[in-house]
Amino acid sequence: MTLFESAVRPVLFRVGGGDAEKAHEFTLGRLARLGERSRALMRGRFATDAPVEVFGVKFPNAVGLAAGMDKNGVALRSWPALGFGFVEVGTVTAKPQPGNDKPRLFRLRDSEAIINRMGFNNAGAAALASRLEALGPVGVPLGISLGKSKVTPLAEAVEDYLTSYRLLHSYADYIAVNVSSPNTPGLRTLQDKSAVAELLTALAGDTPVLVKIAPDLTEPAIAELLEVCLSHGAAGVIATNTTLARAGLAASDQPRAGEAGGLSGRPLTEKARQVVHFVHTETAGRLPIIGVGGLLTPDDAARMLDAGASLVQLYTGFIYHGPALVRGAARAAAAHRARAEAETR
Ligand SMILES: Cc1cc2nc3c(=O)[nH]c(=O)nc-3n(C[C@H](O)[C@H](O)[C@H](O)COP(=O)(O)O)c2cc1C
Repeated sequence: MTLFESAVRPVLFRVGGGDAEKAHEFTLGRLARLGERSRALMRGRFATDAPVEVFGVKFPNAVGLAAGMDKNGVALRSWPALGFGFVEVGTVTAKPQPGNDKPRLFRLRDSEAIINRMGFNNAGAAALASRLEALGPVGVPLGISLGKSKVTPLAEAVEDYLTSYRLLHSYADYIAVNVSSPNTPGLRTLQDKSAVAELLTALAGDTPVLVKIAPDLTEPAIAELLEVCLSHGAAGVIATNTTLARAGLAASDQPRAGEAGGLSGRPLTEKARQVVHFVHTETAGRLPIIGVGGLLTPDDAARMLDAGASLVQLYTGFIYHGPALVRGAARAAAAHRARAEAETR
C-alpha cells in the first residue's frame, strides 16, 4: 500500500460525510493553494523525465491528467508536481453553466469506478482564458477540452465551439473536441461524420485538434469518424470518454448501478483498450491516440500503449491510487518506449 492509499485516501473519502464532489472540491482547493516549496518536494518525489513527442508537441512524459478533473484550471501549477506530463483542462463551454443537480458524482469503491453526471459545470471559456492569461506558462503541455453549452441548440453547436476556440486556442498545445460526454443531451450525435467534419473545418488552424470519442460507438461508426478525422486534419483521437454500460461492477456496487451518467474506472479498462486498438489498426497508426479509460495500474498504462496509444491519461485511477500511479505509469511508458525502440533497431 502506498502512503496515499493508507493515509490520504481514507481521509479524502470521509470529507463531507463521504460526498464525492465535496472531496473533489476540497482536494482541488488544497492543490490550488500549494506553495512552491511543497510543489518542489512533490516534484522531486513524483515527476518523471521521459520525453516523448507526439503531433508536434514535446511532452516531458506520456501520462496526462484527463479532462474533467480541473475543469476551470484552478490547480494548474500542481499537476506537473504530481508527476503529470500534460494536463487537459475543461471541458469548458462558451457560456458558464452550473451543470446538473447534485448529487451527480458517485464512487463505486469495490469496483474501482466512478459514475458521474456532472453536465459540464464550468465557469465558461472567457473565465478560463483570463485565468490562463494571468497564470503564464504551465510548464507542461496544456490541452483544452471544449464542449457545447447546454442552452445552445445542437444546430448551433459549431458556432458555440468556435466561440470557445477563439478565446482559448492561443493558450493551448492542443484542443480536445468533446463530442462524447453522455451528460449533455444530444452531444454524442455530434460524433456523426458530417458533424465532426463541420467541427474540424471550423476549428482548423495552427493548434492541433483532437476528437474525444465514446466507448459505446459501434466499430463501423468509429471507422466513419476516423475517415473524417483523417480527411479533415485532426491531429489525433482521445479514446475514450465514460461509458453508459454498467457491466463489470462488484455486487456491492449494484445499488449504485442505476445512477444515470457515465461510468469510468476498472469496468472501462478492457473496452477503452479495445477501442484504442481498433483506432490504431483502422488508421494503420496514422492518427496519434491518447488512450484513457480504466488505467488503474502501471501495467494498464503499458497495455494501453501496446494497443497503439502514444500518450495516456488518468482520472479515476488517480482518485483511487494517487500520484504514485502517475509515476508508475510514466515509468512503465518509458520502459515500453525503450523496448519498442530496441525492437526496431
Ligand atoms: C467526474 C468526472 C468528470 C469528467 N468530466 C469530463 C469532462 O468534462 N470532459 C471530458 O472530456 N471527459 C470528462 N470525464 C471523462 C474522463 O476524462 C475520462 O475520459 C474517463 O473518466 C475515463 O478515464 P478513467 O477511467 O481514467 O476515469 C470525466 C470523468 C469523471 C469521472
